Amino acid sequence: MFIVRPYRTGDETGVVATVRAVYDEYGFTWDEHGYCADLYDLDGHYGGDAFAFWIAETEAGIAGCGGLETFPLVPGEPPALVPGEGLPRLAGTDCGLLRLYVHPEARRQGIGSALFETVIAEARRRGCRALEIWSDKRLLDAHRLYERRGAVRVGERICDDPDDSPEWGMLLRLD
Ligand SMILES: CC(C)(COP(=O)(O)OP(=O)(O)OC[C@H]1O[C@@H](n2cnc3c(N)ncnc32)[C@H](O)[C@@H]1OP(=O)(O)O)[C@@H](O)C(=O)NCCC(=O)NCCS
Repeated sequence: MFIVRPYRTGDETGVVATVRAVYDEYGFTWDEHGYCADLYDLDGHYGGDAFAFWIAETEAGIAGCGGLETFPLVPGEPPALVPGEGLPRLAGTDCGLLRLYVHPEARRQGIGSALFETVIAEARRRGCRALEIWSDKRLLDAHRLYERRGAVRVGERICDDPDDSPEWGMLLRLD
């Protein structure tokens, strides 16, 4: 059993533990003061109107998280890649998926899907037209989840994380 709810100040410890377990699982570099700093200050990064951030909780505590960012429509038509502030962006998107992670011991009970559905529902509620997803090419479980929901691969890039991770760009139409 689990619930999905908006994050609260104080969730950081559980969120960090969850996401860090995933980083350890995949051998990703943990960068507390850089690429992972958002997870130590959820309000500072996700408290603004352009964001939403949710927690999945079981009887054992925080087991997953995921977020939404809305932004001005990236110009152009899919599947174009548009140069962004350092990183390419997906043309035709106006919102993005953030930080979807489920603790390795809490998987395969619907938590990831529930978090993803929550992100999609909120994006629709805000009138968004297409969701941008950038996902490390090694995260095959996630790609299945996104594609099952209708996301399509439209590009690739090298992320600006400490591992220079290769990523697929996937687009999910919301209309
Ligand atoms: C991708 C990820 C978020 C999915 O989380 P999850 O909670 O396991 O997702 P779900 O339980 O909704 O679905 C996973 C699988 O379990 C299955 N499942 C869901 N509920 C189930 C249940 N009650 N019983 C059995 N299987 C179930 C789903 O059908 C799905 O099957 P698949 O492997 O054939 O695709 C998780 O694997 C993860 O955190 N991975 C590492 C980080 C990552 O990839 N993040 C994405 C960054 S872009």
